[in-house]
Amino acid sequence: MSLAIVIIGAGLGGLAAALSIRQESPHHDVLIVESAPVLAEIGAGLQLTPNATRLLVRWGLEPSLGDMASSPQEFLVRRYDGQKLLGERQNFAAEMLEKYGSYYWDMHRADLQLAMYERAKGLGVRFQFGTLVTDVDPTIPELTTDKGEKITGDLIIAADGLWSKTRSAVLGRPSPPIATGDLAYRIVLKSEDIKDQELLEFTKKPRVCLWAGPNCHAIYYPLRNNTIANVVLLVPDNLPDDVAKQAGDVSVMKGIFEEWDPLLQKFLGQVKKVEMWKLMHLDELEMWYNEDGTVVFLGDACHPMLPYMAQGAGSALEDGAALGIILSKVQSQEELPKALKTYQDLRAPRSTALQKWSMKQLLKTSSMVTTW
Ligand SMILES: Cc1cc2nc3c(=O)[nH]c(=O)nc-3n(C[C@H](O)[C@H](O)[C@H](O)COP(=O)(O)OP(=O)(O)OC[C@H]3O[C@@H](n4cnc5c(N)ncnc54)[C@H](O)[C@@H]3O)c2cc1C
Ligand SMILES: *[C@@H]1O[C@H](CO)[C@@H](O)[C@H](O)[C@H]1NC(C)=O
Ligand SMILES: *[C@@H]1O[C@H](CO)[C@@H](O)[C@H](O)[C@H]1NC(C)=O
Repeated sequence: MSLAIVIIGAGLGGLAAALSIRQESPHHDVLIVESAPVLAEIGAGLQLTPNATRLLVRWGLEPSLGDMASSPQEFLVRRYDGQKLLGERQNFAAEMLEKYGSYYWDMHRADLQLAMYERAKGLGVRFQFGTLVTDVDPTIPELTTDKGEKITGDLIIAADGLWSKTRSAVLGRPSPPIATGDLAYRIVLKSEDIKDQELLEFTKKPRVCLWAGPNCHAIYYPLRNNTIANVVLLVPDNLPDDVAKQAGDVSVMKGIFEEWDPLLQKFLGQVKKVEMWKLMHLDELEMWYNEDGTVVFLGDACHPMLPYMAQGAGSALEDGAALGIILSKVQSQEELPKALKTYQDLRAPRSTALQKWSMKQLLKTSSMVTTW
């Protein structure tokens, strides 16, 4: 029997679920409803560990993504002032490939999302962009859109991210994420715009560099075949409570890193505009699906993750992959609650562990400097 599946959200998790469902069982029908009018260049860099890239390869994305990724040859950890090398791994990506059997890729989130979107279309996934889901009724199940349209199916997959409205609808109470006290500045620089000789030299070789400091951290990695420099600065949060993201003040940002590695300061000297993201947390959902088996959650909608272990996107991809494989065994709607339980049993222990692990890396409690 084929299922009619409606996915809310064309983020990495929603796309992963769609790809996996259609690849494992082409007879299921998949529609993705996404509020954004188009998949624009949102976000910045992502680091993808082998467990995530393995899935991308499985979905046939290696040819389109391989050229757009960067594989770091070395991984450096420097003391904040650049005066001491605290850790170093050479042949980093090659070692990961050898050890885990897949790539370590640094990529632009937009490149990944667009490649997944193209592949999903190729597999017959249908998309409805520019459509905000305003209500979800799990009893039917049915969703209502901002255009007043009602969409029904056998199963709704809530892949609507950190601010998931489906989560509140299913829980029957508000469920906003909470501030962690940390904030990220995200910087993207094109190599062609970098004129400084020392920076050019540093960025020539694909590498990850982490600066571990008092109260703050900074991390550099390359994107798009080493033609883009991505820098993330992690600092204490000073945004107002109700602001999750806003344009940052470049001079304030530079001020925070005044005493840091001159090389990092050179990077910051190139920045003309920057965005600040409040890092949010939410305890993992106790139930990843409802009892009727009509709604299931994945990715940030059920277990948002701090970026410190580079596992948020990877976990969303894994959730989608698992769901696709499990749903390919489902013969009738009656089997859904049991199938969704299997999905939760498989996935929850892994993401609970990662959530806890990345919370431990919060700036105020972090022991990163000593452990490295
Ligand atoms: C600073 C920072 C750095 C990070 N670095 C990394 C990293 O290096 N590696 C890593 O693995 N992860 C990283 N992450 C985490 C990663 O970005 C997320 O975990 C991942 O994007 C979650 O995917 P998702 O599909 O669950 O949610 P999202 O990507 O948030 O997608 C949700 C989608 O649903 C849509 N949507 C929401 N509500 C509705 C609605 N009502 N109707 C219709 N559509 C809707 C949204 O428009 C969006 O497209 C980082 C996060 C941050 C903040
Ligand atoms: C993915 O792999 C990394 C590195 O091998 C590991 O630390 C991490 O726990 C794995 N992620 C998940 C979701 O299991
Ligand atoms: C990636 O960069 C290298 C070195 O600059 C270049 O030789 C190669 O052609 C590039 N690959 C792609 C696909 O652009």
